[in-house]
Amino acid sequence: MADDDLAGEIVRVAGPLVVARGLPAPKMYDLVRVGAQGLMGEVIELRAEDASIQVYEETGGLGPGDPVYTTGGALSVELGPGLLESIYDGVQRPLNLLREMEGNFITRGTDMPALSRERDWEFVPVVKEGDEVQPGDLLGTIQETPVIEHRVLLPPGVKPGRVQSIRSGALKITDVVAVVGDGEAATEVTLLQRWPVRRARPFKHKYAPTDPLTTGQRVIDTFFPVAKGGTACIPGPFGSGKTVVQHQIAKWADADVILFVGCGERGNEMTEVLLEFPQLTDPYSGHPLMKRTVLIANTSNMPVAAREASVYTGLTIAEYYRDMGYNVALQADSTSRWAEALREIGARLEEMPGEEGYPAYLGSRLASFYERAGLVSCLGSKECSGSVTVVGSVSPPGGDLSEPVTQATLRVVKVFWGLEDRLAFMRHFPAINWLVSYSMYLAQVSKKWDEIIDPSFKELRTEAMTLLQREAELEEIVRLIGVEALSAGERLTMEGARSIREDFLHQNAFDEIDTYSSLKKQFLLLRCVITFHREAEKALEAGAEIDDVLASPLRERLADAKFIPEDRLEDFDKLDQAAVKAMEDLVPREERGAVSNL
Ligand SMILES: Nc1ncnc2c1ncn2[C@@H]1O[C@H](COP(=O)(O)OP(=O)(O)O)[C@@H](O)[C@H]1O
Ligand SMILES: [Mg+2]
Repeated sequence: MADDDLAGEIVRVAGPLVVARGLPAPKMYDLVRVGAQGLMGEVIELRAEDASIQVYEETGGLGPGDPVYTTGGALSVELGPGLLESIYDGVQRPLNLLREMEGNFITRGTDMPALSRERDWEFVPVVKEGDEVQPGDLLGTIQETPVIEHRVLLPPGVKPGRVQSIRSGALKITDVVAVVGDGEAATEVTLLQRWPVRRARPFKHKYAPTDPLTTGQRVIDTFFPVAKGGTACIPGPFGSGKTVVQHQIAKWADADVILFVGCGERGNEMTEVLLEFPQLTDPYSGHPLMKRTVLIANTSNMPVAAREASVYTGLTIAEYYRDMGYNVALQADSTSRWAEALREIGARLEEMPGEEGYPAYLGSRLASFYERAGLVSCLGSKECSGSVTVVGSVSPPGGDLSEPVTQATLRVVKVFWGLEDRLAFMRHFPAINWLVSYSMYLAQVSKKWDEIIDPSFKELRTEAMTLLQREAELEEIVRLIGVEALSAGERLTMEGARSIREDFLHQNAFDEIDTYSSLKKQFLLLRCVITFHREAEKALEAGAEIDDVLASPLRERLADAKFIPEDRLEDFDKLDQAAVKAMEDLVPREERGAVSNL
């Protein structure tokens, strides 16, 4: 802590906000220590001689006259090996370790380092003395967990130069691993780095994302895909399935590293995550999922200012792994609670409120949050790319999408998964409304499908979407004049759409097999559904009865097709053939030859 003569003093306390006078040369976003306990705080407004400080811990007991110390630095996170498997609060205090030490509540002012100072890491150098290096260049590697190799890079901001010395073998994170540069310009590099959370980490270029982030969720991957390096939002009323979707993405997405920021939701929900995630197995490696995951938990009962910071803490850690060339997926649940933290702090600052009491800068804050997503070419002399995908849930009060947080979010994100309580009530999960949702990555991502799955995938998707839209129109008619008004062809359209909804879009997150579908399986399943529909259309034209089509036992087989396991994908071909055969059999005998000539 700073000397006493570097201290200012508190003149006012308002909830999470403290106003201090007399701080020497305070700057915006300076990290300060407040009161005798040295509570963490950050300068968020400067006005004449007063500094307004948001405090990351409960401010009870603080009062005018208590000291405030400057630290001279900005709110930063520790970066280095040991991040993976960690569970932090919004300002990167380790939750599991603290809990072990002090029970369920974090004692105020507790200062536990985010990364262990004791642990040894086996460092394998890839450069040698005399090599020229620049920021972003690989110095060596550490097997951080069985699934992630930690790439130790020359940090941004260090002057390029020659490697003077390089270590190998067991190192603690504070040990000097390399000395780079000569004489005055020499820099000692440690495994431990710090980075101010509100500043995006640098990269060379940002590219438009092209590759799908496969989440294993059919309505997402096939209908409204997100790209690696893209942005998506999930607005929906309470209980519509936002958290389940984000958990599913965290569990199944084909990203290398997962960041989950539990932001302001109820404590018990986050406790579930904290208890559940450490039990999960990574479907890709068979190791525990936590070996490539970092959890950040800031629940509604924790200090509101730390909630404001938590998304930046998460983003900075995400960017750190991106810089190593990894694809990182960050989930923030919920950005509405984060916006409420902004609103609360804004109100304490007595700022002029904007729409619904949110600060006028809500939109620009949200934009700069999502802007830190992206596919980038990393610093360093070698070509290397990494990505951060950001998925934020939004909890609009009453599900009303016209409210400011949803609107500001929709202006910046490229994918919209609109959850609806009507669907959730009907137990159609994920309750993503297929008529209003969209993905601006569809064109790019479906180009990739041609290469990695099948050139006909895109067409199947378009056909399915058309059927769903036709269904919505026909439903209007049915509502007005009843189902008898529909022609046989229209009834078949309704049936096709029903099958897409129930046999394809509906996906149970809690079923052992259905919880995840590979992209290949999604394609095959959709192909079966559409094949059946196309064959039924042909059969109708050739004289089959619609009632016979609707009574076909094949419908039941289609309903079960989503439970075909990943190692039996050839079963889908058999089902396709069975569909063709079943529909042919419904055509009156004398017409059969004509059908096969169609
Ligand atoms: N994909 C799904 N499969 C099965 N059940 C689901 C699915 N999505 C949501 N649910 C059900 O809906 C409930 C509420 O979901 P949750 O994600 O907690 O809602 P929210 O975060 O929007 O308040 C879950 O507890 C679960 O019972
Ligand atoms: Mg939730």
